[in-house]
Amino acid sequence: MKKKWKIGLGVCGGIAAYKAVEVLRQLQKADCEVQVAMTKEATQFVQPLTFRALTNKYVFVDDYAPDNPDPIAHVNFSQNIDLLLIVPATANIIAKFANGIADDFLTSTYLASTAPVMIAPAMNTAMWNHPATQRNIRRLKEDGVYFIEPISGELACKTIGTGKLEEVQNIVKQVLDFLESKALSKQPATTDSVENFDLKDEHFLITTGSTREEIDPVRYISNYSSGKMGFAIALAAQKRGAKVTVIAGNLSISPPENLDIIKVKSAEEMHNAVMERIKDATVYVGAAAVADYKPVNRARSKIKKDSSKLIIELEKTKDILEEVSKNRHEKLLVIGFAAETENLENYAAEKMQKKNLDMIVANDVSNPSSGFGSDNNQGFILTKKGIKIEIPLMPKTMMAERIVEQISELIKLRQNLEKSENVDSKIESQS
Ligand code: PMT
Repeated sequence: MKKKWKIGLGVCGGIAAYKAVEVLRQLQKADCEVQVAMTKEATQFVQPLTFRALTNKYVFVDDYAPDNPDPIAHVNFSQNIDLLLIVPATANIIAKFANGIADDFLTSTYLASTAPVMIAPAMNTAMWNHPATQRNIRRLKEDGVYFIEPISGELACKTIGTGKLEEVQNIVKQVLDFLESKALSKQPATTDSVENFDLKDEHFLITTGSTREEIDPVRYISNYSSGKMGFAIALAAQKRGAKVTVIAGNLSISPPENLDIIKVKSAEEMHNAVMERIKDATVYVGAAAVADYKPVNRARSKIKKDSSKLIIELEKTKDILEEVSKNRHEKLLVIGFAAETENLENYAAEKMQKKNLDMIVANDVSNPSSGFGSDNNQGFILTKKGIKIEIPLMPKTMMAERIVEQISELIKLRQNLEKSENVDSKIESQS
């Protein structure tokens, strides 16, 4: 029987290589067909025979091995998979992938593959934090590679820090969610398809990033928002023809080019920038993590550490989303986010009702592999009409497409309502 997905599993030379065996087993249980490729160094940790016995397939290590059954194996292997998954990925393989070095079977396969690539790194904390590794990771992310971020814990070298391979079940979950969402996004588009620029008459005003509330000239209150989620929504809306304006707070990424971006720092600046432009918008999306409180007084000079305790009086900032919603013109759709660490559905529904939103995107920000700062996110969408759409863990770019798709459904509903109101008023004026 045909398996659901074909996965090329690349195993590299690190102590976590043995965990790739369990990843393989769990993927097989989830109805995936897996073929394994190993680096020469990986074979020091696990024998190819282990993978061969479990997959009943030849394990590729060296294109030139006399027993290799396929003379152009790296090309054939790479063309026949739905996903190339690397577990564990060493700093060395990340560096080679980032620089296009193809000096063995796995690196040649990476270059020859047109399938999406997911990488689960594992290494010592210093190697992970090294600017060269982080530079290579940034480059691979720009190239469209997905990372299953390592976690913090006790490493093989007995130190504690970031660099531990993500738990096997979480790796498998991320892989399956990713493949599932890829399959869904390949489903035929609705009649007003993306190529038709169905949002060409809309103007999206989107907030993103964090705000900074200054305590004194050198200190501030803020949060971990990177800006990724809001920019992903901006690009997804722009792709469908919408005019997009982004009010961006503080970011930990370089913003995409070709977007109209207004930079702000504090909640108050964000509030003012939004209020100035809201009358021209037809869709407002509040993806920014706006500080809820700010210091009542900002000290003019650096606060000295004279006393053992420092008490800073805080006051509430203006709720931008709530104000936008209260003062909305009749064509404006108002979409909010709910970032929660517990009780996600109840809190999100409460926020939607309290702020009178058309739709809310709820995300669980307690999970380190999604939410703030991560390339991935998960949660669900709730609409005023009571529709709930689950969003499993997936890249923010993909989640943004789902969000924009749902916004486009709300726009269609609004247009239908306008049409029927026009018909009603015509009938009334004729009678
Ligand atoms: O930027 P990333 O690293 O990609 O992370 C994305 C994200 C986790 C920040 C994003 O997905 C998200 O959840 N954004 C909303 C964060 C937030 O502040 O949530 P909240 O539940 O505290 O606020 C609810 C809503 O009110 C949000 O739409 C928020 O923008 C808005 N708000 C909050 C306070 C305030 N003073 N003004 C507001 O407009």
